[in-house]
Amino acid sequence: MDKHILLRDLDVPNIRELAVYQANDGYAAWRKALTAMKPEEVVAVVKDSGLRGRGGAGFPAGLKWSFIPKDIFPKYVVVNGDESEAGTFKDHQLLDNNPHQVIEGTALCAYAVQANTAYIYLRGEFLEPSRTLQRAIDDAYAAGLLGQNILGTGYNLDIHIHLGAGAYICGEETALLSSLEGQLGQPRLRPPFPAVQGLYAKPTVINNVETLANVPPIVLNGAQWYRQFGTEKSPGTKIFCVSGRVNRPGNYELPLGQYTIRELIDMAGGTIDNRPVKGILPAGSSAPILPASALDTKLDYESMQAAGSLLGSASFVILDDTVDIVWAARKMVRFFKHESCGKCTPCREGTHWAMKLYDKIVSGQGSLQDVEMLGEVANSMAGKCFCLLGEFATSPILSTLKHFRPEYEAWVSGAKTPAGASFHT
Ligand SMILES: Cc1cc2nc3c(=O)[nH]c(=O)nc-3n(C[C@H](O)[C@H](O)[C@H](O)COP(=O)(O)O)c2cc1C
Ligand code: SF4
Repeated sequence: MDKHILLRDLDVPNIRELAVYQANDGYAAWRKALTAMKPEEVVAVVKDSGLRGRGGAGFPAGLKWSFIPKDIFPKYVVVNGDESEAGTFKDHQLLDNNPHQVIEGTALCAYAVQANTAYIYLRGEFLEPSRTLQRAIDDAYAAGLLGQNILGTGYNLDIHIHLGAGAYICGEETALLSSLEGQLGQPRLRPPFPAVQGLYAKPTVINNVETLANVPPIVLNGAQWYRQFGTEKSPGTKIFCVSGRVNRPGNYELPLGQYTIRELIDMAGGTIDNRPVKGILPAGSSAPILPASALDTKLDYESMQAAGSLLGSASFVILDDTVDIVWAARKMVRFFKHESCGKCTPCREGTHWAMKLYDKIVSGQGSLQDVEMLGEVANSMAGKCFCLLGEFATSPILSTLKHFRPEYEAWVSGAKTPAGASFHT
C-alpha cells in the first residue's frame, strides 16, 4: 500500500500528537459531522461503506449502529480494546501510536447514535497504551473537541478509559459490559442484545478499536472512496498481525482480498531458515488451523471461510515443520481451560478433560483410544457452550485431528517421545 489508512504512524512521524494529527486531516471528519451532517447521515455513510467489525465476527458496523433505538436515553458507546486473542497486537499499535484516530472514531460513533458517554475498555496489561490514550483524550478536551458544547454545536461527549483485570473472556462483549459495571466478567444471555439493553441496561454500541479507527476516513472521504479498497463483501483495509515462525513478525495493513496467505508470509520476511510452512492459525487460537495447502487462500472473510477457517481478528500465527502440532494444540487448549469463566458445564468440564488427555498423550502414556476420546470431548462441547469461548476451545482439537492426525498417532505409538519432540516456548 502507498499510504496507510489505519497504521498512519508508519507514514507520519509523531501522529500520536494532536497538532500533527490535526495537520494531517485529524478531526476533520469530526468537524464535518458535527457541523454539516445529521446523526443518521453518519450512520448511513458507515453502512454504505460496508465496514465490517474487526473484533472477530465481521458484523457490519453501520447496521449495528442502526439497531440503536432513537427514543431511549441515555445510550452508550463502548470500545472493545481487550485484545486478548493469541497473536493479536493491532489495537495495541493503534492505541499507542495513533490514539486520536481511535478517539475520533469513537466520537463519530457516539454522535451517530446520539450517546453522550463512551467507555474505552482496555485489557489490564495495556498500562502504557492507556497512558498515551489518556494524554490524547486530555489534549482533545483542552482543544474543545470533547466535553461540553463541542465546537459550539451544543453536543456533549465524555470519554472514559477503563482497564480490565486481564481476563480473555472480558473481550466477549457481554462479559465486557458486566466487567465494566463492576460485576463478575461472565457472558450474558442474548437476547436482549446490547443494542437494546447493554451497559446499565441501556442501548449500547460495542465496537472494536480497529473498527472505529476506520470511521474518520470513511466520514471524511465517503463510502465510495472506502470501497476502492478490498472486495465487495469485505471492503477496506485490514491490519494483519503476523507472528510465529516468521522472520519479521508485526502488523501489516493490506486491502482485504488482494493478497494471499503466502504473500503475507513473504511480507513478514518468510519463515525462519526458509523452513516449509506446516500450519496456519488465521485467528490466533480461536479458529481452525489450516494446512499448508491453504497457502494460496485470499485474505478476506469469505475466502478464509471457504478454506475451512475464519479471518477473525486476522492474527496469523505461522507454524513451520519444526513445530509439534500436538504440543501446539495442547498449548491452545491449556489457554482456554485457564480462561474458561466456569459458568457453563460443557466448557468448564470439557476443557479440563481435554487437557487431561493432552497431558497423557504428550507424556508418552496415551493410546489411540485417548485420541478418539479427545475428539469425542470436543464434539460434546461443540454447539453446547453458553458462549463462543467454549466453541473456540474445540477448534485446535478438531482441526488438528482433521489435518494432522498422523502426529497424534506418532505420539501414542511411541514413534515420538517427550525426549525426542521439538517444542517451542
Ligand atoms: C471469548 C471471546 C473473546 C473476544 N475478545 C475480543 C477482543 O479481545 N476484542 C474485540 O474487539 N472483540 C472480541 N470479541 C468479540 C466481541 O464479542 C464483539 O463481537 C466485538 O467487540 C464487536 O465489535 P466489532 O463489531 O467492531 O468487531 C471476543 C469474543 C469472544 C467470544
Ligand atoms: S463457554 Fe466457557 S467462557 Fe463461555 S460462559 Fe461457558 S464456561 Fe464461560
